Amino acid sequence: MGLLDRHGVIEKNATLLLIFSFLVVTIGGIVEIAPLFYLENTIEKVEGVRPYTPLELTGRDIYIREGCYVCHSQMIRPMRDEVERYGHYSLAAESMYDHPFQWGSKRTGPDLARVGNRYSDAWHVDHLTNPQSVVPESIMPKYGFLKHRMISPEHIVDRLKTDQLVGVPYTSDMIKAAKADFAAQVDPDADTDGLKARYGEKVNIRNFDGQPALTEMDALISYLQVLGTMVDFSTFQPAPNR
Ligand code: HEC
Repeated sequence: MGLLDRHGVIEKNATLLLIFSFLVVTIGGIVEIAPLFYLENTIEKVEGVRPYTPLELTGRDIYIREGCYVCHSQMIRPMRDEVERYGHYSLAAESMYDHPFQWGSKRTGPDLARVGNRYSDAWHVDHLTNPQSVVPESIMPKYGFLKHRMISPEHIVDRLKTDQLVGVPYTSDMIKAAKADFAAQVDPDADTDGLKARYGEKVNIRNFDGQPALTEMDALISYLQVLGTMVDFSTFQPAPNR
């Protein structure tokens, strides 16, 4: 009996086919899953990546609420055209505190993973208010109403605790000071030592939308301006292959 004929035996017997299919899938599954139990961590830690400040986190929630992810991805793939256009390819660690992550699968607009510090705050205010005023051919919708929507840190403590619950390392100090940090980030005259001690010297502290009131525009721009800026790529060394 040739090999093909023997295989014919399996094909003609439903029970035998099921048993062998099950075996093959089981072995394949174990080969894929078992190594994960022996790796200490599937995401290599990278210096500089920190949880979002209360204001940035609020801005991120607005980004999600407004559906910015429908047109924008936040993941630079390690391919030459992407790296030349957007900068260093995204590291897993850069989105390790993102719940949910914003990698995305569709780009109607450009990738935003490293948009932080690329434009001034005033540019973002103009662009979000009327995208066509700075990029005439833009098809991006207008979000000027964000300037007129006030925000308060009413729920920020619970918001941080929720992220803590799913593994974001917010300390009890960060949670206790969440309301103060929320307001301090838009006010350079405030006592911002605590904010810097908790989130690092690099944290952006300024009036993001240029208006006296604390608005959704402030929060959203504080979020956009931190995107992709946490890791210092002039000193970053990828870990050697293990
Ligand atoms: C209908 C699709 C669409 C939606 C929704 C959308 N954008 Fe855009 N966005 C674009 C397009 C197209 C561009 C490129 C033209 C331009 O700069 O306006 C763009 C550009 C941008 C840029 C400039 C990026 C760069 O590198 O030049 C930023 C920042 C941005 N969008 C932020 C946002 C934010 C924040 C939201 C949600 C509040 C949003 N976008 C929603 C389509 C969209």
